[in-house]
Amino acid sequence: MLTESQIDELIDRMTPAEKAGQLTQLFSFTLPGEEDLPADVDAALLQLPKMVAAAVESGGTGALLFTSDPAEINRLQRLAVEGSPLGIPLLFGFDVIHGFRTILPVPIAMAATWDPATIERAQSVAAREARAVGIHWTFAPMVDIARDPRWGRIIEGAGEDPYLGAAVAVAQVRGFQGDGPGDDDRIIAGPKHFAGYGASLGGRDYDEVNISDSELWNVYLPPFAAAIEAGAGNVMTAYMDLNGIPASGSHWLFTEVLRDTWGFDGFVVSDADAVRSLVTHGFARDMTDAGARALNAGVDMEMAVFDPAFAKLPDAVAAGATGEEALDRSVRRVLAAKARMGLFDSPYVDEARAPKVLADPAHREVARTTAERSAVLLRNEGHLLPLDPNALTSIAVIGPLAVSRRDILGPWVFAQDLGETITVLDGIRARAGAHARVDHARGVSVVRRRYKSPFEGLLGRAQRDPEGFDEATEFEHAVTLASNSDVAVVVVGEWQDMIGEAASRTGIELPGRQQELLEAIAATGTPVVLLVMNGRPLDLCWAAEHVPAILDIWYPGTQGGAAVANLLFGDVAPGGKLPFSWPRSVGQVPLIYSHTRSQAPENQGRRYWDEPSTPLFPFGYGLSYGTVEYANVVADQSVISVHGTVTVSVDVTNTSDTNADEVVQLYIHQRNGTASRPVRELKGFRRITIAPDETRSVHFEIGPAERRYWNAAVKDWVNDTSTFDVWVGGDSRADLATTFEVAR
Ligand code: BGC
Repeated sequence: MLTESQIDELIDRMTPAEKAGQLTQLFSFTLPGEEDLPADVDAALLQLPKMVAAAVESGGTGALLFTSDPAEINRLQRLAVEGSPLGIPLLFGFDVIHGFRTILPVPIAMAATWDPATIERAQSVAAREARAVGIHWTFAPMVDIARDPRWGRIIEGAGEDPYLGAAVAVAQVRGFQGDGPGDDDRIIAGPKHFAGYGASLGGRDYDEVNISDSELWNVYLPPFAAAIEAGAGNVMTAYMDLNGIPASGSHWLFTEVLRDTWGFDGFVVSDADAVRSLVTHGFARDMTDAGARALNAGVDMEMAVFDPAFAKLPDAVAAGATGEEALDRSVRRVLAAKARMGLFDSPYVDEARAPKVLADPAHREVARTTAERSAVLLRNEGHLLPLDPNALTSIAVIGPLAVSRRDILGPWVFAQDLGETITVLDGIRARAGAHARVDHARGVSVVRRRYKSPFEGLLGRAQRDPEGFDEATEFEHAVTLASNSDVAVVVVGEWQDMIGEAASRTGIELPGRQQELLEAIAATGTPVVLLVMNGRPLDLCWAAEHVPAILDIWYPGTQGGAAVANLLFGDVAPGGKLPFSWPRSVGQVPLIYSHTRSQAPENQGRRYWDEPSTPLFPFGYGLSYGTVEYANVVADQSVISVHGTVTVSVDVTNTSDTNADEVVQLYIHQRNGTASRPVRELKGFRRITIAPDETRSVHFEIGPAERRYWNAAVKDWVNDTSTFDVWVGGDSRADLATTFEVAR
């Protein structure tokens, strides 16, 4: 491994242009064959491979992204190591968001497991596969708090809550990096997008963000702080303006908060083209100014498609807009990351090993169990679920999403093998056994976006109806099939290109005629199990009253169909919980459980005259097949000092005759103090499985860290003296309570 002084010697030998090259990351797509290229492909994109090779050979780039073939990675690496003047190896990054070859449930689904161990294990599989093909670094986890389901990227995060968000962020960083990203099978984690991206105006992706001081420190920053504390090696900037300053040019964010306050010692990368867009924002004068200001703010590396602004850094140095020491400092961070990854000693990947790692059956097992643990049972009237395979002779599986190999994986996947994807229909067929007839009807057409997704084209293809499909005929067919079956499993949701980046929408209705189909199926009288394939809350107001069983399966990944079948037939019990408050309509948005008491708290549920202001399903909510009862919530001390810690314990008993899977949640409320505090805040949770009749005692510690908050009046963290209410239970409405007091 290169030592610090060897890194400094290397930097001494570099020209300003070579330094700027090390601070540049270029896109390097493997383009599809000519026949698969979209007709309107940008001609410049076709020149990309040549341009990238030239940049690598001249030392004009220090990192690439989007190459995922090990032979191609080695080819490009050889160009850098053997063909460029300084021979500095490249760092290869990729969006390994929820799996590489084996696709895991989408991030919001992983958050719904409320189980850090499951999440860590899942992302360690993603890291292992990515590293096996030669990828060193992922642009994940996305730890942006999201409280607006119109924003498509809500799917990439952990939902509305900073405490859950921080725990999920840590689990992901640990999954990707293990004890250190340089270890075998591990990669660098890059929490993103720093900071506040989830609060865009109107939920419109990329639009400006205005967040109060109190919300920033108490809500939006904690998951980042936790990810840094967990050792994340990289951080990515955000596209939008934060309180009037483009985040990617914010000295406050990248120097004062990230480095000076949190002690981050990794490297910062810009989001794609976000340095160039400092000009677009009307912030920087030109590309030279943009590069200089981003670097001065603390952005070490620019990710760019064409013409990086950082290529102008030598001019900026010559003009005095930035100093060579700023350049050196960033180069040092980038070279240190390469050294930590062992690239100076062994820059190449073992091409023969890669396919073996990618094919590892243990990875599929992890994908399946993660999907099982992420599902959230929203309703189960009359114990319709689990289904009894011996009692069923016919099952109708309905909806185009039930058979889509691509949609079940969700967005942000690029290296999957669609051939191994298990659809919902496949999974149910395999599990139902020979004596039950399992038939499928699509029922409705694939719905297309009004404006095309940027991922369509070069990076993927939108779903289409099969040849000769006629919606009217197929709708009738689905209804008839349901009438002639013992049970109808209806899969509804959004197509994967309707959620994710650049996939904001104005409503949350089920797209197309899915709602109409659902109502027609329910009208047949056949019991309906509704499976929801989603990354944001969708309008389930009608279903929540009329459909007996609703299971949120999210986009469950490669093994999704197998996981769903295991859940439906009771081989495993659902136990996931919602990581966000599920609104009734977009008019309620943003809707959070952790609002303050404000005026007239007794009318909290009646803030609108036309609709309840409560959620359809509360934060933390989810059922299981078993039932539990909470009792004996006790604080071990009634009075503590501001430095003190109280331990709260609770007994949870399984009152059913089947295993119960439960996430025990603890919420606190500070009754008074130097600011008004939320009615409730999550401050502890634990997922447990309890056998019939078993009682488990669960303990939580509430110390100064759980009670402190950022006070906008004093512009600092405070720990007030006050009485604290504590509730413990299975969701954010938990009513079993105790109190303790913090005195001097
Ligand atoms: C996204 C990032 C992503 C990057 C590289 C950007 O458009 O905002 O989250 O990591 O592209 O694919």
